[in-house]
Amino acid sequence: MIPLPVAEIAAITGGTLIAGHQAPGSGIPDSNSESGIPEISTYAAPAAGAIVTGPVVIDSRLAVPGALFAALPGERVDGHDYAAAAVRNGAAAILAARPLPEAGVPVVVVTDVTLALGTLARAVLGRLPNATVVGITGSSGKTSTKDLTAQVVERIGPTIAPEGSLNNEIGLPLTVLRADETTRYLILEMSARGIGHIAYLTGIAPPRIGAVLNVGRAHAGEFGSIDAVAKAKGELVEALPPGTAGPAGSAGGVAVLNADDPNVAAMAARTQARVVTTSAGRAGLEPRADADVRATGLTLDDLGRASFTLHALGGSAPVRLTLHGGHHVANALAAAAVAAELGLEVAAIAEALSAATTRSKKRMELHERRDGVLVINDAYNANPDSTRAAIEALAHLTRNGRRGFAVLGYMAELGDIAAESHEEAGRLAARAGAAVVVAVGAEAAPVLDGARATEGWQGEAIAAPDQRAAVAALRNRLRPGDVVLVKASKAAGLWEVADGLLAEDDQ
Ligand SMILES: Nc1ncnc2c1ncn2[C@@H]1O[C@H](COP(=O)(O)OP(=O)(O)OP(=O)(O)O)[C@@H](O)[C@H]1O
Ligand SMILES: [Mg+2]
Repeated sequence: MIPLPVAEIAAITGGTLIAGHQAPGSGIPDSNSESGIPEISTYAAPAAGAIVTGPVVIDSRLAVPGALFAALPGERVDGHDYAAAAVRNGAAAILAARPLPEAGVPVVVVTDVTLALGTLARAVLGRLPNATVVGITGSSGKTSTKDLTAQVVERIGPTIAPEGSLNNEIGLPLTVLRADETTRYLILEMSARGIGHIAYLTGIAPPRIGAVLNVGRAHAGEFGSIDAVAKAKGELVEALPPGTAGPAGSAGGVAVLNADDPNVAAMAARTQARVVTTSAGRAGLEPRADADVRATGLTLDDLGRASFTLHALGGSAPVRLTLHGGHHVANALAAAAVAAELGLEVAAIAEALSAATTRSKKRMELHERRDGVLVINDAYNANPDSTRAAIEALAHLTRNGRRGFAVLGYMAELGDIAAESHEEAGRLAARAGAAVVVAVGAEAAPVLDGARATEGWQGEAIAAPDQRAAVAALRNRLRPGDVVLVKASKAAGLWEVADGLLAEDDQ
């Protein structure tokens, strides 16, 4: 973060600065304020001159000397109650929605802390003209693509990318605020749960390059329709500056669009930026020959890791991903297209993609138990499209006779399509030849209906009321060589099943 005096933070956010008590023994006269709250006009000068050196944190446990603690109202807890803890950990100032007289450090009081974070991030970025912002959105794969892109781009300059999935109106400004004068690239994940969300994020961090991965059924309940999802995701390319004609690497806006997804390809009409298309091919089809960045000769090894030839910038080079699942090829192509625009050569891109590893947990994480049971922990999150991708990976891993177990939990936020989507997941698992399908939790029950209704499926359908029951049901069924996919939305907490299965290994 660039160092900022608290007074400047107040000016930027339009907040009121309430200075904290001066340090004991600082020799500055005490306040005459009757309320006991030191007034800025009386002796606050030293505190008001306090400088925040960062980071900006919303979790008091992450505060360190020089940090700015932003007190956010949470669903269960109120950040204001943790201000004192943040100060104990060294926070130099607090951004809050109400005065905190006991804080002992300067407090900038604003009407809306979340909006103030955005305003602050926008202002900080405005002072960093050398930083290029890359925005990544899509229904599935944002974090994976962000991690891949960062691992390629950081080879050519200091790069900031969020930890995990910090992709909303809070996480994005927190990430931007980590940047300083040395930052060359900001690789930002941008998520939407409604219309206008991505427009808001691009207002905080105006991207020069924007990549849209796919338009799927994630959050279908909130959006109401696929068209609404497309409208929301397309706000990213609408925010891009006009492109300049010319080869890759030319200045100006660049929209990286997945040509394999018609809803994404159609976004070309919604941007002034130069359009760069990607194509990984799909369902056994060769990639589109007219795409700017392509993968040909795709093969998956025994653990579902993709090898392919990357075509970009008029050249080609071999890539061998360490990530599991064919769906990561599309993500890798988006990363490659971004990197090509930022000036990397195709060979360097291919090499960096091949070296890239999973930075964010619980996404297609493979663990082999000592008894040879392979556990795929993909329980970070789920929607119908990422569930399909995971089941395709399970099918691939079991194609040589291994038995597949699909342990599927609730997929959240699907609204009207919830029942049919769970049924479809069960059907896909059955068609993929799963020997056992386990539905964890009552809300996932339609999974079993889908599996049972699949013609010719002879596997076993098990309803497990919770994670523990799922582990118990699997205990005596698993044999060496079996492959277990564990997948559900975050809310279902199914990583406990994966953890439980792996813990059995230690006994
Ligand atoms: N291109 C893709 N198509 C389908 N599924 C994908 C794709 N990329 C990743 N996934 C799967 O989707 C799940 C979430 O991946 P990831 O965290 O990268 O996505 P995300 O878009 O950041 O999700 P979130 O909206 O939760 O932030 C994982 O199970 C991952 O394997
Ligand atoms: Mg994410």
